[in-house]
Amino acid sequence: MVAGLASRKNMVKMMPLKRRAVRAIPISCLALAYAATASAQAPVGGGTQSGDERQISDRSGSQLDLSPQAKTRSGTTGDNAVKARAKRILAQMSDAEKAAQLTQSFYLQPVPRANVGAIEALKTTGLGSLLFVTDPAEINRLQKMAVEESRLKIPVLFAFDVIHGLHTIFPVPIGLAASWDPALAESVQAVAARESRVVGVHWTFAPNADIARDPRWGRIVETSGEDPFLGSAMAAAQVRGFQGANFGSPEHVMAGPKHFAGYGASLGGRDWDEVNLSDAELWNAHFPPFKAAIDAGAGAIMAAYMPLNGVPAVANRWLLTDVLRGAMGFKGLIGSDSGSVNKLIVQNLTSTSVQSVARSLDAGLDIEMVDPGKKPAMAALPDALASGAVERARVDDAVLHVLEAKIRMGLFEHPYVDTRQAEKVFADPRSRTLARTAAARSAVLLRNENAILPLARGKLRSIAVIGPLADSAKDTLGPWVFEQNKPSATTILQGLRAKLGSNVKLTFSEGVRMPKRLFPSPSSTADAVPERPPLDETAEITRAAALARDADVAVLVLGEAMNMVSEGGSRSSLELPGRQQELLDAVVAAGKPVIVVLMSARPLSLHDSKPAAILDVWYPGTEGGSAVADILTGDAVPGGKLPFTWIRSAAHAPNFYDQLLSHKPDPVNGRYWNETSEPSYAFGFGLSYTSFAFSNLKIAKRYYGRGEPVTVSVDVANTGERTGDEVAQLYIHQREGTSVRPVRELKGFQRITLKPGEVRTVTFKLSAEDLRYWSAVTRSYVADESLFDVWAGGDSRASLHAEFTVGSPK
Ligand code: BGC
Repeated sequence: MVAGLASRKNMVKMMPLKRRAVRAIPISCLALAYAATASAQAPVGGGTQSGDERQISDRSGSQLDLSPQAKTRSGTTGDNAVKARAKRILAQMSDAEKAAQLTQSFYLQPVPRANVGAIEALKTTGLGSLLFVTDPAEINRLQKMAVEESRLKIPVLFAFDVIHGLHTIFPVPIGLAASWDPALAESVQAVAARESRVVGVHWTFAPNADIARDPRWGRIVETSGEDPFLGSAMAAAQVRGFQGANFGSPEHVMAGPKHFAGYGASLGGRDWDEVNLSDAELWNAHFPPFKAAIDAGAGAIMAAYMPLNGVPAVANRWLLTDVLRGAMGFKGLIGSDSGSVNKLIVQNLTSTSVQSVARSLDAGLDIEMVDPGKKPAMAALPDALASGAVERARVDDAVLHVLEAKIRMGLFEHPYVDTRQAEKVFADPRSRTLARTAAARSAVLLRNENAILPLARGKLRSIAVIGPLADSAKDTLGPWVFEQNKPSATTILQGLRAKLGSNVKLTFSEGVRMPKRLFPSPSSTADAVPERPPLDETAEITRAAALARDADVAVLVLGEAMNMVSEGGSRSSLELPGRQQELLDAVVAAGKPVIVVLMSARPLSLHDSKPAAILDVWYPGTEGGSAVADILTGDAVPGGKLPFTWIRSAAHAPNFYDQLLSHKPDPVNGRYWNETSEPSYAFGFGLSYTSFAFSNLKIAKRYYGRGEPVTVSVDVANTGERTGDEVAQLYIHQREGTSVRPVRELKGFQRITLKPGEVRTVTFKLSAEDLRYWSAVTRSYVADESLFDVWAGGDSRASLHAEFTVGSPK
């Protein structure tokens, strides 16, 4: 939402932050908050862990009954009561009041002019929803207008983009995905929900369930990456975290998975451009995370704003009604992305607001998010009704969806928020502990020559900490973080200082500055940099190299600034921005071991540089610096894995691991004549401070009937000398069938902690759903009889192999 963001920037000043001395938390405490709430270490893929029968059902489960009365995920009594109550309210409404309920307006605090229309509506017709207010007193003030002054006294739903935390900031979602730990993602979003609900927010526009297979696309940072299975597990877990077990319960918010559908596949990775996806790609890759989110009970879905196969998502009846309501059984609220109903005119699909309203309501949309300061297209609803452009029954149906969400969220009983609670909840130390655990569990170790990490603390006398991101709180927090919620961050420099105290000398150079974007970010506060004297980068690179030479080891923090990713953060290159590559080469040439810590949301090309170690920490959040210090010193052991294929350069995009098997499967070399198309690091890859071996891959039977679950087990051994985490990954390939199938596909994973010498049997269950796919031949799901390959291991190149057959012996 370009225009909206342009205004939004005026209110949401991104951090500069106060530096805080942070007390190091012993690693033994780190897991506490998370362990207390999460069903950690349960396999994803319907399986069980030997000796522990806890299960996560990430991809199945029945449709959630959204009623507060039901208090469970099943039953319809409450549901009928909610519907009846909504109908009674609807019966009293005028067309103008209906239009108002179908409107969601921005409310940007320092830009009151943009809010005038919304205030007027609140006092007269009422309003469906307001977004971007997070001050509890202001929320109460606005709510009072709707509840006491408007004719029908219908409360307002307050919404906000709570993407990876509100006050306590957790790793960005691509980082959470890299933890391969859905239970962790659930715990994180439960804290984010608690901090949001306590300020009066009822609805978050998250999780981003888009599949991102082209890392040029900046919004990859908000997603779980390229894989539908991992993406589904993470989408469902986040929904559970936001909403809790009972929809509308006090410490939770309504989740709004977005952007339905296909936004991640915009042409050339360019933000906002059109998306053209075959039905097979939609059903097999892009729809599953949304289906998983719906099965987990998501209360809302946001329709995307770009055209999908020629039809803007918001006006795409097949997408919103046939697929989302019909095939996926979604019963909640369908909202638009910002301004997208009005922009049907910009896209020359329609030429009047009456047509825009009619097209989107007819497609199945319920509520329109209006760009800041713009007139809602929904204002034309009474005319659209009067002229017969839109069916009254469809309009009523949309209004009922809004009212039902309000009833289920308990707004009629509790429209206001207790303004004294927010500070208490923000100060809960368990949230920071969880943030530290989450940042440590998200990090991915890509390289560790001669086991340089963890640093030998006993012998270490000095570290040169270098780089433009080493002491930047704003970048440590990442995008979708708003100063109005008073976030703070420990930088990597601060985290190392706090951990190492005066025993180890730390020197610091920022080395180079992050360059300015050629085209500013849609949120210009993201681009704001604190006033600082200009830096002579050439001299500073020389100084940084000298500091590295004089130290035992250099920690070089490089990557992309937080304003180089997210919405409007697409990029045609995967090079390190600015003069960072030169800095890297100079520091490596100084001759001391160099540990590169990357902050990024996409693969970055480091060319032929050979630092001793590379650790990707994404944008790690409030406790990012402390968590990185934990990892570098060995108080935490990295166990994250890549949620995308780390391609060599932007020219290789897209190049994801689960492509269809081609007629020339081997070799990868030759696909381009000038260079290998092999990625730098495979999907699912990540190192530990210890080593693991997989053996004994067993499939319970050789032959299975169609639809029969297949049980697969594998032994994982810690063959090194430290306790560490491995993510056991299960991939399959189908040898024959109705359509060609991917080279291999992830169908199960489990993150486990093993002591040195410990061996654990991990068991996976392949369900009927795991073995079916959507075929363009039948234009439906098929489950073929075929031989299936199975691989288990620590990344997508796993070589341990077994086979089973669906069908009978030939
Ligand atoms: C983004 C959405 C976001 C909305 C409200 C839009 O520009 O595409 O993801 O939820 O703004 O901030």
